[in-house]
Amino acid sequence: MQSTHFFGALLLILTLTTTTTTTNAHNITKILAKFPEFSSFNHYLTTTHLAPEINTRETITVLALDNAAMSSLASKHLPVSTLKNILSLHVLLDYFGAKKLHQITDGTALAATMFQATGSASGTAGFVNITDLKGGKVGFAAANPAADDSAAAVTLNSTFVKSVKEIPYNISVIQISHILSNPEANITDIMSAHGCKSFADTLASFSGALEVFTTNTEGGLTVFCPSDDAFKAFLPKFKNLTKDDKTSLLLFHGIPIYNSMAMLKSSNGMMNTLATDGKKKFDFTVQNQGQKVTIKTKIVTSTITSTLFDEQPVAIYTVDKVLKPEEIFKTPEVSPSPAPAPEAEAPAKGKRHHKSPPAPPSDEDESEGPSADSPADGPEADDSTADDSSDGGERVTMKMVGVLSVVGFMVMLI
Ligand SMILES: *[C@@H]1O[C@H](CO)[C@@H](O)[C@H](O)[C@H]1NC(C)=O
Ligand SMILES: *[C@@H]1O[C@H](CO)[C@@H](O)[C@H](O)[C@H]1NC(C)=O
Ligand SMILES: *[C@@H]1O[C@H](CO)[C@@H](O)[C@H](O)[C@H]1NC(C)=O
Ligand SMILES: *[C@@H]1O[C@H](CO)[C@@H](O)[C@H](O)[C@H]1NC(C)=O
Ligand SMILES: *[C@@H]1O[C@H](CO)[C@@H](O)[C@H](O)[C@H]1NC(C)=O
Ligand SMILES: *[C@@H]1O[C@H](CO)[C@@H](O)[C@H](O)[C@H]1NC(C)=O
Repeated sequence: MQSTHFFGALLLILTLTTTTTTTNAHNITKILAKFPEFSSFNHYLTTTHLAPEINTRETITVLALDNAAMSSLASKHLPVSTLKNILSLHVLLDYFGAKKLHQITDGTALAATMFQATGSASGTAGFVNITDLKGGKVGFAAANPAADDSAAAVTLNSTFVKSVKEIPYNISVIQISHILSNPEANITDIMSAHGCKSFADTLASFSGALEVFTTNTEGGLTVFCPSDDAFKAFLPKFKNLTKDDKTSLLLFHGIPIYNSMAMLKSSNGMMNTLATDGKKKFDFTVQNQGQKVTIKTKIVTSTITSTLFDEQPVAIYTVDKVLKPEEIFKTPEVSPSPAPAPEAEAPAKGKRHHKSPPAPPSDEDESEGPSADSPADGPEADDSTADDSSDGGERVTMKMVGVLSVVGFMVMLI
């Protein structure tokens, strides 16, 4: 009896499996294999495991990119998870043949994509705006229908090129001219891949802070990511902060608007950050010095060293020092002199006029003066020195926290 049941069950499973296989009426890998100009796109559909997901769906449209259009993406050396996020935006959960594309009701539509289906999208991101343009062209762009009107006004950079394969109404493969940039592309992955792993790992382990960053990728976000050297050296101090201060410090490295490098260079002045909240100012001053752009707080002057990522509405820059808000790192109190701290960071060169209080005689006292026997967490003093010995252990700890939280999350899912 037992075995009859067992075989019955087995038979059922086999039947189900067979049924599933036969619904695989199409094979995207096979379809694209006939076109060498899509070999890169096809390769990435396989490595990101999107191909089987495409094959098991009916009524689907794949927006294919030729090797030239893919080259910019391939050259970024992005992690597979980020590539998957980006490419899944190129799979529409509806059937759009060439004919339907040119006859869209009211000339514009939003199509749901596999990006949403894979659950990576936060909120309502992950739609593609398809719009019939003048002269018979059809434009495509990533869109977020929930964003306000200004943010929703997408640039339709990518256009329809040709129909590659149509099996109505199972699968349509059409070529588009440019990659649809996905503002949701995992910012921590992007940072990790470009020399900001330490900060990114830490951010990834603070889900509350990460969520603020992620939410802002839809409407506009600029991130100032401390280089690995700078952030590793800072980790021992970071670990010492309270949980709230840790979160604030992470949020302090982002501002809720998009800023290109050109915009930063021409917008000297105070800026609010993601940590700004009512009475908690958490602001800093952006100031350009010739071609350099610096971020100043009362505690530190940090310089932008490179553009890590710039795709409106998200820009990420590398900075050479951790941004320390005065709200967390109190300026050392030295009774007689009114304004000891501000200049402590600025090295001998590149002096700027400071609007701040009548600074004491000269800046030179930075070397001795207040910092000499101020508390350990005073200005920069130990940032450059405390690194080597301790950071290895700290890093591991932070990593562990990240891993543990991911594991914890998965356990919750199960
Ligand atoms: C479309 O898919 C259905 C269901 O898998 C299948 O029965 C049908 O034959 C497919 N159509 C074509 C033209 O391949
Ligand atoms: C799809 O086609 C590729 C290339 O022809 C082949 O290697 C793969 O096994 C096929 N996948 C399925 C599910 O049939
Ligand atoms: C798609 O984008 C265009 C251009 O920004 C805009 O005019 C149109 O309203 C958008 N369509 C939808 C359905 O949101
Ligand atoms: C998209 O359009 C904008 C504005 O027209 C332009 O600055 C940008 O370079 C274009 N991007 C691509 C990939 O063509
Ligand atoms: C981004 O990457 C991190 C670490 O790999 C992961 O925990 C997180 O879920 C990813 N987020 C998205 C939106 O893919
Ligand atoms: C951490 O805090 C303790 C107690 O306030 C202090 O003694 C220690 O120097 C701090 N360590 C660092 C790295 O700031």
